Amino acid sequence: MARKKRIGILTGGGDCPGLNPAIRAVAKTAFVRHAAEVIGFKDGFEGLIEYQTRELHPEDVSGILTKGGTILGTSNRANPFAYGEKKRDVSKQALRNFRSLKLDALICIGGDGTLNIAHQLYRLGIPIVGMPKTIDNDLEATDYTIGFDSAVAVATESIDNVHSTAESHHRVMIVEVMGRYTGWLALYAGVAGGGDVILIPEIPFDIKKVCQKLDARGEIGKRFSIVVVAEGVKPGDSQLVVKRRVKGSTDPIRLGGVGYRIAEQIENLSGLETRVIILGHLQRGGKPTDFDRILATQFGRKAVELVTSEKFGYMTSLRGGKITSVPIKGAIARLKKVKLNLPLIEAARAVGTSFGD
Ligand code: F6P
Repeated sequence: MARKKRIGILTGGGDCPGLNPAIRAVAKTAFVRHAAEVIGFKDGFEGLIEYQTRELHPEDVSGILTKGGTILGTSNRANPFAYGEKKRDVSKQALRNFRSLKLDALICIGGDGTLNIAHQLYRLGIPIVGMPKTIDNDLEATDYTIGFDSAVAVATESIDNVHSTAESHHRVMIVEVMGRYTGWLALYAGVAGGGDVILIPEIPFDIKKVCQKLDARGEIGKRFSIVVVAEGVKPGDSQLVVKRRVKGSTDPIRLGGVGYRIAEQIENLSGLETRVIILGHLQRGGKPTDFDRILATQFGRKAVELVTSEKFGYMTSLRGGKITSVPIKGAIARLKKVKLNLPLIEAARAVGTSFGD
């Protein structure tokens, strides 16, 4: 009798809604279609390095479709190639642990940091399959990543909710969203929430143009405005606003707070009373949207298919509505930035949204 396949799985980097549906999809496909065993690593690569595992059974992945976060836990510090305070290379230990568990493959669900490490482990000899997740949607080679749609939904609802208070008090409300160095989240939530101004890293802005837009609204009787700001925009002095540095993280920089700088500039230049809301980690909370559940389910099934067909070093991807696979190497080569000729930008401009340019 053929030996049962044993599939390892981990979630790395920042959590987001959609990870649990992804774990569920991998495990259920493995159990139902292939009678395979699924071994979860706790807290991302930390579990692989420290041999912290948890065998998943059908009951473990039942009832998690609607839950945010990850039942496996995650970490954005545990890099096997630079581990701990001393940044030791413990990748050989990770490889030994993988082999001693007699696993046939390791499915890594994560963003660019996790997939970068996954690719290096693949080159070391671990049969890796990737699944893209990040609320930033900044991974090349896939149209959407797991978690992005759910974060857009939270940010959109928040923008909806500040409208009434902005209107009552005749204020400018700045809503700062995450997204790191790209503006996908700000653009999508800004358009969906009807932001009057959307500021994203890909389009350098001039604060005078932003104020012109706000004043123009005042002239037609609109005494409030909503400005949606991506955390990665650079205000006048061309510096990213860094909130903290996280030692041991693949990218230690944590952004946050640029909304306050922009509010100050708006008040100084236009005299309009301005308030700031930084949505922060709320955007990574809550239930996964239907889109993320469906995407995660399809990616999960595809990831197991890549394992059984031994197509390692590949990542699941959504391209033009089709589920496919692409080399992980291509997905991590560079950040996927918002293209200036994106139809969504054109549409936003057409309905009068300003990008401050
Ligand atoms: O990459 C996802 C993300 O949520 C970014 O949008 C944000 O800049 C960063 O992670 C926050 O990281 P942390 O959870 O370490 O504060």
